[in-house]
Amino acid sequence: MTALLPDGHTFPADFLWGAATAAYQIEGAVAADGRTPSIWDTFAATPGATLGGDTGQVAADHYHRTQADVALMRELGLQAYRMSIAWARVQPTASGEVNPAGLAFYDRLVDDLLAAGIKPAVTLYHWDLPQWAQDLGGWPARDTASRFADYTEHVVRALGDRVHLWTTLNEPWCAAYLGYASGVHAPGITDAGAALAAVHHLNLAHGLAGRVVRDVLGPEAPLSVTLNLHVVRAASQQPADLEAKARIDAIGNEVFLGPMLEGRYPERVIADTAAASDWSFVHDGDLETIAVPLTVLGVNYYSTNLVQAGTPPVGDGTPGPDGHRSSEHTPWVGADHVEFLAQPGPSTAMGWNIEPQGLVDLLTQLHTRYPTLPLMVTENGAAFADEIAPDGAVHDERRVAYLRDHIDAVWQARAAGADVRGYFLWSLMDNFEWAYGYDRRFGMVYVDYATLERTVKDSGHWYAALIAAQEAAHR
Ligand code: FCB
Repeated sequence: MTALLPDGHTFPADFLWGAATAAYQIEGAVAADGRTPSIWDTFAATPGATLGGDTGQVAADHYHRTQADVALMRELGLQAYRMSIAWARVQPTASGEVNPAGLAFYDRLVDDLLAAGIKPAVTLYHWDLPQWAQDLGGWPARDTASRFADYTEHVVRALGDRVHLWTTLNEPWCAAYLGYASGVHAPGITDAGAALAAVHHLNLAHGLAGRVVRDVLGPEAPLSVTLNLHVVRAASQQPADLEAKARIDAIGNEVFLGPMLEGRYPERVIADTAAASDWSFVHDGDLETIAVPLTVLGVNYYSTNLVQAGTPPVGDGTPGPDGHRSSEHTPWVGADHVEFLAQPGPSTAMGWNIEPQGLVDLLTQLHTRYPTLPLMVTENGAAFADEIAPDGAVHDERRVAYLRDHIDAVWQARAAGADVRGYFLWSLMDNFEWAYGYDRRFGMVYVDYATLERTVKDSGHWYAALIAAQEAAHR
């Protein structure tokens, strides 16, 4: 088996080792116990929206297999599990009335995790907006933020202090821009102004919900948000290329970091997007609400971006080879003079370049900028075309190498002073990879979608051994 980490690269005893999933990607059971459709059910049912027409109807059927899945997590030795809650299970209709059966599912899951010695880290929103909320305007509508805070209150009261870490949102960048500008994610809308309103209302939702968590559980309640911050590099030091980088930094990163951590929108974001919006959706007091103090900042990292001044190729909005993230096929809002360049070197099945140094840079730069804010890697991992080998195992050595190099990147960032408190591997198991359906496998556990059988991949065995060795180092 591939070596664990270089000798002596030991993490502190309280560093948290976990794995992550999201409700719509694994649960299935889309109509069980009163759940109503989310925007992802509607979107996935739209012809051409997802690769192969795949939907989350069955997914990994986790809803019906939670006990076995928790047992598997325990076998792997996970210390923590990052999961998300499906809003449409908790509040299936616009009346906002709570569905006890929906909440009961998560209530049991949290208890099962705790009984297995696994700390639950709960994300309140991982992209599956109830369809009823979209019908009322979705994230471009201000009221969605208040509705989200109301939903949050019910969940927080039900699960309370059994949750180790509360995360308001996962990657609002994707929810806003891929959902409402490029339209490659649900709800599939292509309207730059609507996407910017969505950005603000997601920020507002974060602030309102964060305050609810603290109001219900007390001022020390563990609170976070997870961002997919872009590591952006300029192709040259020419002013035009540096300007291209600054634009992507602004619209990709600063538009969230600014309000959430510094109580302001950077002026250049407003200026760069003036053609699409006048930002009149920002009301007095919003910025104070959004800047709720965080316990820890969640960072998702997969790869880097290389940009230069230029004209991006214009796409037709359907998921392309890179349709899921910083799409080369659909220009970014406010960045229509920026070209994303293909990067040399190895890449994953997503076409994302493999660059662990980007994670070192991201974590150390965040630490320099926010020295008192602890960090947590809430997602990191890689998709490859895995297969069950004749010996019944899944020999995913490229994923093992990816994980090893990126976990070691976290170690290096810590050695350079970054206060990183944990690492969550994306993903516990293969799952519905959004617009790519079941075609891209990120799991450390293989899922046979015909039988729903789980097989721990070599990477899962490797990760289990790593956690065990890290624990042993402190005994
Ligand atoms: C992130 C998402 C997660 C998964 C990974 C591969 O953007 O948060 O759900 O799709 O990418």
